[in-house]
Amino acid sequence: MSKSTDSKESESQQSKQLPIYRHKAELIRAVKDSTFLLVTGETGSGKTTQLPKYLHRAGFCKDGKIGITQPRRVAAITVAQRVAQEMHCTLGKEVGYQVRFDDCTSQSTAVKYMTDGCLLREILADPVLSQYSVVILDEVHERSLNTDILLGLLKKMFSKPGKAAEGRSFPLKVVVMSATLETDKLSSFLGDCPVFTIPGRTFPVTSTFGFAVGPKDIESSGYVKEVVKVALDVHTSEKAGDILVFLTGQVEIERACDLLYEKAESIDYRYDVEDQTVEGLLILPLYGSMPTDQQRQIFQPPPSGIRKCVVATNIAATSLTINGIKYIIDSGFVKQLNHNSRVGMDILEVVPISKSEAEQRAGRAGRTSAGKCFRIYTKEFWEKNMPEYTVPEIQRTSLTAVVLTLKCLGVHDVIRFPYLDCPEERFILEALKQLYQFDAIDRRGRVTRLGELMVEFPLHPGLTRAVLKAASLGCQDLLLPVAAMLSVENIFIRPELCGVNTDVLLPSGHPEKQKEADEKHKALATKSGSMNDFATLLAVFQLCKSSGRPSAWCKDHWVHWRALKSAFSVETQLREILLRLQQKRDFPVDTYDGEKSELFRRCLCTGYFTNVARRSVGKVFCTMDGHGSMIHIHPSSSLFDHEGKLNWIIFHDVLVTSKVYVRTACPIRYEWVKDLLPKLHEVDVYELSSVAREEVTDEEMKKWETREAAKRQPEVSTEDVM
Ligand code: CDP
Ligand code: MG
Repeated sequence: MSKSTDSKESESQQSKQLPIYRHKAELIRAVKDSTFLLVTGETGSGKTTQLPKYLHRAGFCKDGKIGITQPRRVAAITVAQRVAQEMHCTLGKEVGYQVRFDDCTSQSTAVKYMTDGCLLREILADPVLSQYSVVILDEVHERSLNTDILLGLLKKMFSKPGKAAEGRSFPLKVVVMSATLETDKLSSFLGDCPVFTIPGRTFPVTSTFGFAVGPKDIESSGYVKEVVKVALDVHTSEKAGDILVFLTGQVEIERACDLLYEKAESIDYRYDVEDQTVEGLLILPLYGSMPTDQQRQIFQPPPSGIRKCVVATNIAATSLTINGIKYIIDSGFVKQLNHNSRVGMDILEVVPISKSEAEQRAGRAGRTSAGKCFRIYTKEFWEKNMPEYTVPEIQRTSLTAVVLTLKCLGVHDVIRFPYLDCPEERFILEALKQLYQFDAIDRRGRVTRLGELMVEFPLHPGLTRAVLKAASLGCQDLLLPVAAMLSVENIFIRPELCGVNTDVLLPSGHPEKQKEADEKHKALATKSGSMNDFATLLAVFQLCKSSGRPSAWCKDHWVHWRALKSAFSVETQLREILLRLQQKRDFPVDTYDGEKSELFRRCLCTGYFTNVARRSVGKVFCTMDGHGSMIHIHPSSSLFDHEGKLNWIIFHDVLVTSKVYVRTACPIRYEWVKDLLPKLHEVDVYELSSVAREEVTDEEMKKWETREAAKRQPEVSTEDVM
């Protein structure tokens, strides 16, 4: 009992020491006095955890909630946990969080942390955010796509006098928070709004470059071994103080932690370490899909004499602050979602970080005292391969989902929307084209009934369309589990996995385990009855669910129980959304008189016809979407051994290394996509620019349609043996 009181007291002591604390009264006043307020301050100054608490105490929740957005789900969850603890309440009551497929809020929630994507969805249902008294857009410097769109929407909301007040009985306050980057640009974007700068204390950090790692190491993931080596050097030769290692993703982090455990075992603390107060090493991974109770451990101080070493993704650069870090080890790489023009899709790839990102990483060592940053890459790599700044997400990823959201919000002119940084016009046109192909918008760029239904699902539009098709035919039970399985992290355990972009199979210590896992996975694919990765996902979902002992079943079959458990929950939530939509009068109803066994794949075709490929030579396929990329089937797919017997396939995702691989694929018949394929070539993407703007006249429209009709339909061979 006394222990918990102690910790509560020391917690509040701790928050009093944060740089923001001295500015509490001024900050509250500043929020009261302005509509938009920009708050900047060094990472770790207490913006995210403290400001919502101050506003809550100052009575800002009298009329509505305080909503705080985060670009990353882990940040939303862990910060909410922390604030609930500081406010002495149960998580989900006064303080709660909401991220995609995980809502931990209740009627009594007054301070709500959420991802930026969640707030965007709320705006769809309630354009003036009538439930909120304060909206805080946090981590704006990260420049995530959804945060950028929210900035534009909020700016627009206040651009016409009185517009933001419509439908609201009390004024909305908007606070935008960011690290000390691009302050002037943000303030001028928000109509020269006041800027509140929290003066930070930072200590000098000395950075050194390495000799070993250059750009070639991306493919071989050589940087994993290098960071491990440097971390052990630091541990044995530097004074006490915790280490933070920046790596790229879960697989690399787990691999690095394994290597660290292994190597740290042989340290003899009597002779090998320079600082004799250091008696051990505590190794902790930190990445997005980690269970939250494990994430919480990251923030605990280590036992006395023990050095903590956190191996993290970029999440630890600004979203989360870990106290006590004195040494940074920077791999120089980050996993980033980029649009790949070679395949016309977004791909998660490993790229060099920007110089400003590297400075940000180094800065994490200088929060409480002078620190050191060990960059494992060479000075030459810094100069030649690292860009000055990180390109905002809006300029490098697919805009399909946000353009549909904007259109549904009545923003017809998506080209002249107030963007903080404009995306390239061709990205907007690409998005419009894809929405047109999915029948989500019509030729005039207006949202169709199908588009209105599609926007309700937090899924990729193609997948949503397949789900809706299945629902119209009454066979949603086939597609909902697949959609859920594709929305969670990878469900198959692969003991030998160690790779980067690639999931490349590199030699490791568990070949026999890998063999066993492979065999179990193959058996599951066979059980599903066909050579079809989507069907395998469905079979795994159903078999596990009906097994009676799901966690044991997963262990037996080398399947991640945690991932499957979330898939069960996601499926229920998708089903609820669908049920709600089906109750509406005009929900589409279709009939199907083909073979029952084909129904599943035909539904998939309506969503994935944009990802269709035809075999060209041997085992190589060629995509049909105009990019004409040569693609291969990934070894983890059940179609891998196809021996050139398949002719047409559709696929869910691709992996780009030296070759382009498709994963989660399924064979189809040409006739199922025959009527859909012309749509891929029907509109010239540049023609669509006219429908992106409002002022297209009937006459212009007619001209355009006549021209389109005169265009030749694409020639596609009807050869089809599948
Ligand atoms: O938002 P900003 O970067 O300015 O700071 P913050 O995230 O509010 O962090 C303030 C303090 O809270 C830091 O010292 C963090 O280490 C601590 N914190 C924590 O101990 N546990 C969390 N889950 C989140 C923050
Ligand atoms: Mg923060």
